[in-house]
Amino acid sequence: MSHLIAPSVLAANFAQLGTDVEMLNQSSADWIHIDVMDGRFVPNISFGFPVIQAIQKIAKKTMDVHLMIEHPELYIEQFRQVGADNITVHYEACPHLHRTLQQIKASGAKAGVALNPHTPISSLSEIIQDIDVVCLMSVNPGFGGQKFIQHTYQKIKDLKTLITQKRSACLIEIDGGVNQENAPLLLEAGADVLVAGSFVFNSENPVQTILDLKQIQK
Ligand code: DX5
Ligand code: ZN
Repeated sequence: MSHLIAPSVLAANFAQLGTDVEMLNQSSADWIHIDVMDGRFVPNISFGFPVIQAIQKIAKKTMDVHLMIEHPELYIEQFRQVGADNITVHYEACPHLHRTLQQIKASGAKAGVALNPHTPISSLSEIIQDIDVVCLMSVNPGFGGQKFIQHTYQKIKDLKTLITQKRSACLIEIDGGVNQENAPLLLEAGADVLVAGSFVFNSENPVQTILDLKQIQK
C-alpha cells in the first residue's frame, strides 16, 4: 500500500474553512485530520461538533478525528454522527481502553489510539490487534506548528516490530512537525500515514505541497 497523507485542518483558515476543505477535496490528500482539544487533556481548545458537521457536508475524504479530550468514551457516538470515519483516542485518557475501542468499532468507525511522546510502545502490546491506527505524537499534543521530536523514528521501528510480532493489521500514523525533510525518513522507518498541518497550510501552494508529500518514494 502506498502511504497516505492527512492534512490537519487545525492549520486552516477558519474564516474560510469551506474553501480550504474544497481545496483538500481537489488535492491528493487521502484523509482530513481533525483535531479536537478540550482545554483539559491538552492546554488548548480547538473546535467541536458543529464545526466537524460543517466539514462533513463538504468533505469528500475520510474524516480522521483525533480526540485530545478527557473522557472520550462519553462522545463516541456523537462524533460518529457528525461524520467521523476514524476516531482516535489518547492512551493516556483511557483507563478502559479496550472497552472504548469496542465502543468506537460498534459505532461503525475505525478505532485509533494516539500515544504521547513519553508513552512507550510496549503499553500497546496487549491490545495492538484491536487497533486500526496507532497515531504516534511527534510533538506534545495541543498546538500546531511545533518542532518535530527526533526520538519518533525509534518509536516507529519499535511499533513496526510489535505489529509484525502480533500480526496486527494496524496502520502507523505520525502527527506533529511533519515536513518535506523528515517525511522520507518517517516513511523509510515504517510510517503509513503522515499528518501535516502548518507545513501544508502555510505553504504557497497547498495542493502542490500535498502532492509532493504523496509522491515521496520509499
Ligand atoms: C497537535 C495536533 C496535530 C497538529 C499538527 O496537537 O494533533 O494534528 O495539527 O500540526 P503541525 O503539522 O503543524 O505540527
Ligand atoms: Zn492531530
